Amino acid sequence: MGKLYKALEKANISALRDWPLDGRTREEKGNGQRGPDVVRASRQRVKEDAERLEKPVDFRVVVYHNPESLAAEHFKVLRGTIMHRSKGQVIKSILVTSALEQEGKTMVSCNLAVSIAQSIDPYVLLIDGDVRRPSVQKMLGLRKSRGLTDYLMSGNPLSDYLMKGILDKMTVLQAGSRVRNPAELMTSERMQHLIEEARDRYADRLIVIDSPPVNLAAESLVLAGQADAVVMVVRYGVSDKNAVDEAVKKLGKDKILGVVFNGFEITPRKYTYYKKKYYKVAY
Ligand SMILES: Nc1ncnc2c1ncn2[C@@H]1O[C@H](COP(=O)(O)OP(=O)(O)OP(=O)(O)O)[C@@H](O)[C@H]1O
Ligand SMILES: [Mg+2]
Repeated sequence: MGKLYKALEKANISALRDWPLDGRTREEKGNGQRGPDVVRASRQRVKEDAERLEKPVDFRVVVYHNPESLAAEHFKVLRGTIMHRSKGQVIKSILVTSALEQEGKTMVSCNLAVSIAQSIDPYVLLIDGDVRRPSVQKMLGLRKSRGLTDYLMSGNPLSDYLMKGILDKMTVLQAGSRVRNPAELMTSERMQHLIEEARDRYADRLIVIDSPPVNLAAESLVLAGQADAVVMVVRYGVSDKNAVDEAVKKLGKDKILGVVFNGFEITPRKYTYYKKKYYKVAY
């Protein structure tokens, strides 16, 4: 383990402690110190990752680093909603999107995928469907490999492009090589075929698709039409209300399975009830 990795490890752990999505109240945070067990487990995980991954798993994948945190609980609830609904409505593919850029889509996609992989039953296939600005590979610390665009441009089987994720029950399809025509490629028949093939061939697998912003990229809307459900990310205090309204209108309320209010921090002050009621993760 080189010096750089050591520095990253250190940064990773202290950053994780302060990350808002850690989800603890200020009281729970106390003086900002985490219990020795949590720190030890986190260090151990980072050490093991160093042996098999290119980089440490990003600290924002909090479900991976701190499966006992409140944020991880939120993702469990979302996972439960998807799995519960999937019994009646057959939800196999979930598109994660938001109105605009930088609202937390990739972070939510990765955390949701990890949460599914940590559960007892289903496996998860995480697809980086944001081929314009791919970041799943970096967030998970994986080695860069061929992926979605390469698959779409080739005649080869999907299995040639899948790679193992950061947990045993997780498979990843990276975004692949940069292309000039992302919208055409992503709205092609082969893309539709991919979602259908993944659905039918891997019956025990839920598919989570990260995507570009729905108000800015044509393909997100098409992908939303092909996926069974949409998880919408709204960045608390950052997302523009009109932009969110526009995205909801485009996607259609019925298609939206849940809204993740990213960045919401529970405060133990007197407005807690109000805030909880109106701003917490809603499904
Ligand atoms: N809860 C949060 N608290 C602080 N920063 C956050 C939070 N969520 C996201 N960010 C920051 O916002 C940036 C975007 O996060 P992420 O890549 O998950 O968003 P995105 O919607 O996928 O972005 P893009 O549209 O560029 O693909 C990152 O730099 C991340 O650190
Ligand atoms: Mg992204």
